[in-house]
Amino acid sequence: MNNQSLSAWVEEVARQTEPDRVVWCDGSEEEYRGLVQAMLRDGTLHELDQVAYSGCYLHRSHPSDVARTEHLTFICSDRAEDAGPTNNWMSPTEAREKVGRLFDRSMRGRTMYVVPYLMGPAGSSASKVGVEITDSAYVAASMRIMTRMGKVALEHLGTSSDFCRGLHSLGDLDPERRFIAHFPEERLIWSVGSGYGGNALLGKKCFALRIASTMGRDEGWLAEHMLIMGLEDPSGNVTYICAAFPSACGKTNLAMMVPPASQPGWKVWTVGDDIAWLRVGADGRLWAVNPEAGFFGVAPGTSRKTNPHALATVQRNTIFTNVAMTRERHPWWEGMDGQVPAELTDWKGRPWTPASKEPAAHPNSRFCVPAKQCPSVSSLMEAPEGVPISAFVFGGRRAKLAPLVYESRDWAHGVYLGASMASETTAAATGKVGVVRRDPMAMRPFCGYNMGDYFRHWLEMGRGRSSFPKVFHVNWFRQNEAGKFLWPGFGENLRVLRWINDRVHGRAKGHETALGIFPAEGELDTSGLDLHASAMSELFSIDRDAWIEDLADQEAFFGSFGDKMPEEIWREHRALRSHLSP
Ligand code: GDP
Ligand code: PGA
Ligand code: MN
Ligand code: MN
Repeated sequence: MNNQSLSAWVEEVARQTEPDRVVWCDGSEEEYRGLVQAMLRDGTLHELDQVAYSGCYLHRSHPSDVARTEHLTFICSDRAEDAGPTNNWMSPTEAREKVGRLFDRSMRGRTMYVVPYLMGPAGSSASKVGVEITDSAYVAASMRIMTRMGKVALEHLGTSSDFCRGLHSLGDLDPERRFIAHFPEERLIWSVGSGYGGNALLGKKCFALRIASTMGRDEGWLAEHMLIMGLEDPSGNVTYICAAFPSACGKTNLAMMVPPASQPGWKVWTVGDDIAWLRVGADGRLWAVNPEAGFFGVAPGTSRKTNPHALATVQRNTIFTNVAMTRERHPWWEGMDGQVPAELTDWKGRPWTPASKEPAAHPNSRFCVPAKQCPSVSSLMEAPEGVPISAFVFGGRRAKLAPLVYESRDWAHGVYLGASMASETTAAATGKVGVVRRDPMAMRPFCGYNMGDYFRHWLEMGRGRSSFPKVFHVNWFRQNEAGKFLWPGFGENLRVLRWINDRVHGRAKGHETALGIFPAEGELDTSGLDLHASAMSELFSIDRDAWIEDLADQEAFFGSFGDKMPEEIWREHRALRSHLSP
């Protein structure tokens, strides 16, 4: 390694954190096995049944460290205005005092791992290098799954000083001394006091979304909280789609969906399940790469019925975090197939029976697994140029209000659909679950800059570009009065994707409504579905009063951006209001 700026930074960090030893990670299989062995010895990992689950391990986190902590996440831009109203801001000076000091001697008695990693395919001009320094073997091992780690990253970097610096220490895991601080101007991340994926695997949310979104603003591209999938029709044509849903709202499921037997010939190819980096190609289309190499997916709810490909993927080489364990040492979580076992070890390591009050697996328990193990992984996942995107799909969890699917009238209206998104909160972040909050483009927790500027950037990206993706909005989570989901979801979502595909290729007419373009009569295939008689009309009903209420909430939210809020979005907002007026 002959990169001066990298070695200088590593030395500086070692002087501050005082580790017992420094290990440069090369990303090899051998090194990974060594990390696992060490973690089995010190109790960080527990071995699962190595016959049925070869190479699979269980990690139990500190019980207070199970999800992203948005209230402890900061954007430390020079100016508060650049963080905007949706981020917590801390001045770089204050951060150095308050957060920087927590790294003093924080690695005493520990090993410091230097983890160079590449986000994006090897050899791609879209790819970026990050280096994470961490005192957690669990983080180093997980980074090997989630990124292209070690040699390939250093080769991409060469002697350049252009890499994202990420410093991570478990600290003492006390939430009082937990901070995730981002310095977008310096491409620097400090994370202390948490080992949880979204807080500690710095390539993921911190770099590939928060820091990368600011790079995209400056350089004219987009870093988005989106899955990337290829939809193959029965004649073999593949259409690529990106979808943005908030955390724990269905991205991983949709990205690797298995179409039901009623839809012969259709296939879904997985390019990515969480993050997309998008650039305009020479052909004027928008091209996407998945910066990651693995999936860090929600375990509960994953079953043979809902997500068979995820289940097949996690049979080997998987690190599970905070799931329960059966007597046979198999991983288990709520929503898995088959009978609930009579006894389990719960995510905290305690005996559990079906009579226990709490869930056996933590609601945000996760699997961490190489993407290439997924049966539906796309052959273009490693393509340096990525895949050309024909549709953007926004969506969230809305028990009420949002219809099953509709399309925007044009690009500005599409950006408005993204900007006005809202969704019920989930266990992926600490705090109350099930509260509706505005979550533009599913990026509220991940946009590293002022979202008013972000909306403007979106508008500019697509302005006048006729070959840009068409924009849709979906909602798999609408409920009836009794609180039951109206739509079967999962594999049956293919029916909705088919309408989207038909619209993209000019084969469906749709019909105009106040909200946008709905499927016209007969365009959405519901044959053979066991739906309640009124389900489809409920799924597409427009509750005028509820929308007027939502518009008031939108108005307050958009208003919080002051004069950063683009007039074009206001115009769309007002247009909807007038469309809804009798
Ligand atoms: P992600 O965090 O956005 O990747 O979301 P996941 O795909 O991991 O799904 C999160 C949770 O939502 C899981 O418990 C899924 O079982 C559930 N889920 C995903 N898709 C659907 C759907 O179409 N309908 C319903 N009802 N639940 C879904
Ligand atoms: P998710 O990823 O979107 O798959 O839940 C983790 C997160 O967003 O925290
Ligand atoms: Mn996510
Ligand atoms: Mn996911």
